[in-house]
Amino acid sequence: MIAINLICNCTMKPSPKILIGYKNSSFLARCHHTRTMSMSNSTTCGLNLDHSTMHCPFHTREFGRIMHGSNQQVFGLPSSSFGQSMSLSTSRRTKRGVSAVAGVDINFKARDFSGSVETRVNDSNGDMVYVKGGMNVKPVVAESGDKDEGDVGEESRLEVGEEDEKTQNSCGLENVDEANNVEEETEVEKEAWKLLQEALVTYCDTPVGTVAANDSTSEQLLNYDQVFIRDFIPSALAFLLKGEREIVKNFLLHTLQLQSWEKTVDCYSPGQGLMPASFKVKTKEFEEGKTEEVLDPDFGESAIGRVAPVDSGLWWILLLRAYGKITGDYSLQERLDVQTGLRMILNLCLTDGFDMFPSLLVTDGSCMIDRRMGIHGHPLEIQALFYSALRSAREMVVEDESSKKLVGEINNRLSALSFHIREYYWVDMRKINEIYRYKTEEYSLDATNKFNIYPEQIPLWLMDWIPEEGGYLIGNLQPAHMDFRFFMLGNLWSVVSSLGTPRQNNAILNLIEAKWEDLVGQMPLKICYPALEDEEWRLITGCDPKNTPWSYHNGGSWPTLLWQFTLACMKMERTELAEKAVALAEKRLPEDSWPEYYDTRSARFIGKQARLYQTWTLAGFLASKMLLKNPKLASLLCWEEDFEILETCVCLLNKSGRIKCSRDAAKSQILV
Ligand code: GLC
Repeated sequence: MIAINLICNCTMKPSPKILIGYKNSSFLARCHHTRTMSMSNSTTCGLNLDHSTMHCPFHTREFGRIMHGSNQQVFGLPSSSFGQSMSLSTSRRTKRGVSAVAGVDINFKARDFSGSVETRVNDSNGDMVYVKGGMNVKPVVAESGDKDEGDVGEESRLEVGEEDEKTQNSCGLENVDEANNVEEETEVEKEAWKLLQEALVTYCDTPVGTVAANDSTSEQLLNYDQVFIRDFIPSALAFLLKGEREIVKNFLLHTLQLQSWEKTVDCYSPGQGLMPASFKVKTKEFEEGKTEEVLDPDFGESAIGRVAPVDSGLWWILLLRAYGKITGDYSLQERLDVQTGLRMILNLCLTDGFDMFPSLLVTDGSCMIDRRMGIHGHPLEIQALFYSALRSAREMVVEDESSKKLVGEINNRLSALSFHIREYYWVDMRKINEIYRYKTEEYSLDATNKFNIYPEQIPLWLMDWIPEEGGYLIGNLQPAHMDFRFFMLGNLWSVVSSLGTPRQNNAILNLIEAKWEDLVGQMPLKICYPALEDEEWRLITGCDPKNTPWSYHNGGSWPTLLWQFTLACMKMERTELAEKAVALAEKRLPEDSWPEYYDTRSARFIGKQARLYQTWTLAGFLASKMLLKNPKLASLLCWEEDFEILETCVCLLNKSGRIKCSRDAAKSQILV
């Protein structure tokens, strides 16, 4: 029988359709420890392997995506497919490219943990418990001991261990890049691996992520002891490139379980499908003498400024693809629960709002820059990640009757978004000169100056700064507003994902090379250029003392950006640029204790409030080194130009005769 405990302590009445459990804290996936059965740290996971109970966390999760009524319809999944624990049949198509390689077996600590997602827990009654907090998350679902959970045949019902064994055999071992084995690790790399190992976070004795920073000198811990989704990406890549897949799989599955399930506006809870910014493993006493480990996510409801992490779900999708590409284990992305989570994120992103642009409309601070920095609206970083996530999703969504509409929507959005960014975000000498001579107040469909940009907006610094060769995508575009600041992450992801045209992608790297002193200086890489100063700083950041000019998000330099720079350079066959930047980092990072960021125009000083031993700093460095050693694997993480995307224009406007498709009205050539 299905066994569920409800703990309810919230004034909100949950929808009986969806929510089964509540508690006045965040969602908690529990792993019980009893003090009587001691293992390390004097607590032990109380494991009940009795198959008739629910198993925490993964078995529950596999069964955990039962949706009812309208919610089920949202994702177009047939009712019969819910509640089944299975990998979707591989006979169904995904648009996946070349299969990848298997990992290299190395002796790494992540592997020393039990490592699998088989941890099963139950509460003291032998019943599995999932607890739902004030913030809405997934419904609690029980795994029934009865065998009638759909007709999942033995073959499709892979236990994780078996699954791994099977994929291990089928994931192209012959393609394994030898470089990892051949090239010696430098002393600095060895130190970084050691630190990365120390940053591991375990849940029920299984590694599930890495803390943001391990800085014992820091007076204020804030939330740097949490596992951030975005921060874990370079750690995950380093692990994957090293052949360590389990921690990444655990991370993907655990965070999937934390995904928001239902929105309650008056509780400031996240919308359905949102992935948390971070999570923490907490130990709680749930009964005299018994403790449990719980996963406690933060969707921004505790974050400084209450910022919603729009990028988390996008990063999650990117990592899911990378996991498949690097390990060759595609069974993970084909699982029903994973497919459902993927569709929930896509659904959230693709939902109609009031906005007319194909780009995503978000609030300030919804990404790596998670404080007020004047990036609300349609920031490039989110658009580039969105585009990359859509391209990833298109490869991974299992195509069947129920997903046809979704795949169509993805294709249309990719096409519209790529046009929009290429055409309207791009600036170079020629384009700036064009804007400089813009006419304004053009009321017509054929307007050149569609967004009514007043030429006076072109900042003085830009007129002198823009090189003859090169260009970049601006930070944001809104009615009567172009944010001309150069944002590194968005530009790099535009190169990696081919959101930019091949010409634009090359030009972005030309610009970085030409402006090396400004964008790299003494430590790669500037998060944005230039800094907001004086009145602009006061008005735009709200006098943020952490974001003073040339510090932190406001023109600070972030070594973690190195891996994405490396990937972009390798893709565009400009590896020497990446090597130069990595060499700078390798020399200084260990001397400076792996800081989070650097300050000043040329990144001379360790950031005023920077954490030391920041995990994504050292993981970004390691991932860069690994990518440079594994060009074949690096290429699997990038996207080439897709001509199908360029050809698609589903715009029916021309047919209606009322208005024209903006592509016809576009003045520049965006296709080459
Ligand atoms: C800062 C960064 C954010 C990062 C977090 C944890 O808030 O702005 O991007 O995820 O620290 O390292």
